[in-house]
Amino acid sequence: MTDSRPEWAPAAINLDQPSSARVWDYFLGGSHNFEVDRRVAEQAIAFKPDMPDLARQVRMFLQRAVRTAAAAGIDQYIDIGAGVPTMGPVHETARETVPGARVVYVDHDPVAVAHGEVILADDPGAVFIQADARSPQAILDHPEVRALIDFDRPVAVLLCSLLHFVSAADDPAALVKTLQAAMAPGSHLIVQHASNDGQSGDVVKMLQMWNTNSPEPMYWRTHDEIEALLDGFTILEPGVVQVQLWRPDAEEQARAEQDHDRYASYAAVGVKPGSTTG
Ligand SMILES: C[S@@+](CC[C@H](N)C(=O)[O-])C[C@H]1O[C@@H](n2cnc3c(N)ncnc32)[C@H](O)[C@@H]1O
Repeated sequence: MTDSRPEWAPAAINLDQPSSARVWDYFLGGSHNFEVDRRVAEQAIAFKPDMPDLARQVRMFLQRAVRTAAAAGIDQYIDIGAGVPTMGPVHETARETVPGARVVYVDHDPVAVAHGEVILADDPGAVFIQADARSPQAILDHPEVRALIDFDRPVAVLLCSLLHFVSAADDPAALVKTLQAAMAPGSHLIVQHASNDGQSGDVVKMLQMWNTNSPEPMYWRTHDEIEALLDGFTILEPGVVQVQLWRPDAEEQARAEQDHDRYASYAAVGVKPGSTTG
């Protein structure tokens, strides 16, 4: 049985199909999800009980990486595969350090877009556009992106929990290269990617369950495959590491080390080399 359609749900969406944006929202404790999303999310939790914790770890990495970019003076951000922009999103985090930071959110999910448009309606420095990450040049050429982002100056591009939805046939490396070509020297690429390294049989079953139930199949990759996606960027310390081990806050450090192999999800930040112009 499907939910009755809430007021904020766009008419075009199919309430019988789960979406990764809304399942992720459920893991993060948000309210922009439907019965079908919650059912798939609970099935995933049955296989891997720490899925909600992983979603929170990814969000905390995103925030630490954005603070790193902001500390380097970056005042413009493009968050691709942003999901529902709640629970400490990029514009709030960046503006803690750079009050005037401008942010473009991109997602193909109509619920993420609809909710993002409401949240950002009175914010001239942030916008949410609906686009497919697999057409990165269309994102770069989008009029709202061009209005907000100056590609002659460093920009931070976020691909968090996004590239594992891009198949080998859709060429994630080419996707990154297209973005890289548009980024000025000093720009940051912020990546988090699910991995099949060391995954248990149960977790592999969870992936099969997701790929059977969802129109958005996932393609987990190894550490080395993920590192190769950052080719041409100078990877900041500590490198391509488990998401919770990327520069954890002092209070998170002990737990992060204890949870060393828990998530099989890698994170990294790359900087485009060359002299900066901005
Ligand atoms: C797991 S959520 C991650 C949300 C957020 N980036 C984070 O890390 O917390 C993945 C998001 O990627 C979006 N997505 C997946 N494939 C996409 C594509 N081809 N183009 C644009 N967005 C996509 C989904 O709609 C979803 O919102």
